[in-house]
Amino acid sequence: MAQSRPPLNLDTELPHLPDAQETAWIEVIRKMEEVYSDLIRYEVDLEEKNKALEDAQRFITSVLTSMSDVLVVCDSRGRVQQVNQAFHDLTGLAGDELIGQPVRGLFAEEDQGRLTFCEVAGTPVRDREARLRSRDGLTDWVALNCSPRLDTRGRAAGMVLIGRPLGELRRAYQALNDAHAELKQTQRQLVQSEKMASLGRLVAGVAHELNNPISFIYGNVHTLGKYRERLNTYFAALHGEASPEDRAALRERLRIDRLLDDLGPLIEGTLEGAERVTDIVKNLRRLSFSRSGEAEAFELGAVIRTAVQWTIKGGGGTADFALDLAPDLHTRGHSGQIHQVMVNLVRNALDAAASAARPEIRIRAERLPGLLRVTVADNGPGIAPDDISRVFDPFFTTKVVGQGTGLGLWISYGIVKEHGGAIEAANRPEGGAAFVFTLPAGEP
Ligand SMILES: Nc1ncnc2c1ncn2[C@@H]1O[C@H](COP(=O)(O)OP(=O)(O)OP(=O)(O)O)[C@@H](O)[C@H]1O
Ligand SMILES: [Mg+2]
Repeated sequence: MAQSRPPLNLDTELPHLPDAQETAWIEVIRKMEEVYSDLIRYEVDLEEKNKALEDAQRFITSVLTSMSDVLVVCDSRGRVQQVNQAFHDLTGLAGDELIGQPVRGLFAEEDQGRLTFCEVAGTPVRDREARLRSRDGLTDWVALNCSPRLDTRGRAAGMVLIGRPLGELRRAYQALNDAHAELKQTQRQLVQSEKMASLGRLVAGVAHELNNPISFIYGNVHTLGKYRERLNTYFAALHGEASPEDRAALRERLRIDRLLDDLGPLIEGTLEGAERVTDIVKNLRRLSFSRSGEAEAFELGAVIRTAVQWTIKGGGGTADFALDLAPDLHTRGHSGQIHQVMVNLVRNALDAAASAARPEIRIRAERLPGLLRVTVADNGPGIAPDDISRVFDPFFTTKVVGQGTGLGLWISYGIVKEHGGAIEAANRPEGGAAFVFTLPAGEP
């Protein structure tokens, strides 16, 4: 710290002089005072700057010390100027012995040939692998980055090399890889359990659906068995010795007339039950999404046209059809399955529109960026708001028994999804329902 000097006492410390001389002396002394106080100010400034410099130095040192990457600073001739703590930790070499050494000497001899970049200031290098010499041989591989260092005037003053030990990176990569594999495994399990759950729902639905027709087939056949016994008894009496009165009494007792009346509905009911079981089984077979061969390119417009013709020919209602199909609707997949989706949608639309005074069905197919979009709209009663979220569920149907299994939309949903598209149901503001599905657009 600067010491301040006690001020001069001009009366006691200076000899008495003639006036002019005295004035000159006083002036000289004042100047000296000024110079002296300037000096003190400079000294204080200098001390402050020195402290700031020391703080900056400590900061830089602490940063360099806590870096986990190896750092080597060299001058424009490729001589080591400074290395950091991580360098010492990795190589076990003391910094003092390295300062002033050529930087290439820090590396394994085999790698030196590839490291001329260190001496070519101004040539940055990214992620070059090399090994450093260490106290007991060579270190692990490090990924080197090398950037030019510029002086205050922007001229190349040397290079800064930063090396990241690859062991660490490899370990991090391995951990990432393991985590990824584990995630994939978990995802597979999730998909699997989701599949099992939906299979469970399907099986429960199938069991429920089959239970009803099978139980009345069973009941009917049981009744038929009893009728057979009664008919046997009656026919034995007919062919035997019984008198006409006895036969009439027997016919009355065995309620043969009611039995004969009942036989028709019984057989019809049994047949209906059997048909219902056949329908369910047929739908379940469709459900296996059996694919004949590989996915192929096809034109959606043609598939839509034939599906509509087939459905109309299949009977069960007519409607005014309006088809608006853009040309060249190319896509890839299984045209047979998409045909089936169209048949399901048109069949449903026909069923729904049957209640309208003039049934109308509009089918529109258009090309959007990367997509083909098909809309099947009818002027039926539309879908009840509570049912919109359920129409794609397996076995959801509002049709009377024998008219629908409730699998059509569920199967269509699966097919469209398998093709990389989506299907949605909505009610139209002007009335009726609209089913919209998309497929990825393809090349001809
Ligand atoms: N265009 C439509 N308008 C109104 N409701 C519809 C329409 N299409 C489907 N639905 C409703 O969705 C239900 C399920 O349709 P889905 O095609 O899955 O089965 P389904 O037609 O009842 O029987 P299936 O197609 O198996 O013979 C229908 O019962 C009906 O309630
Ligand atoms: Mg249907």
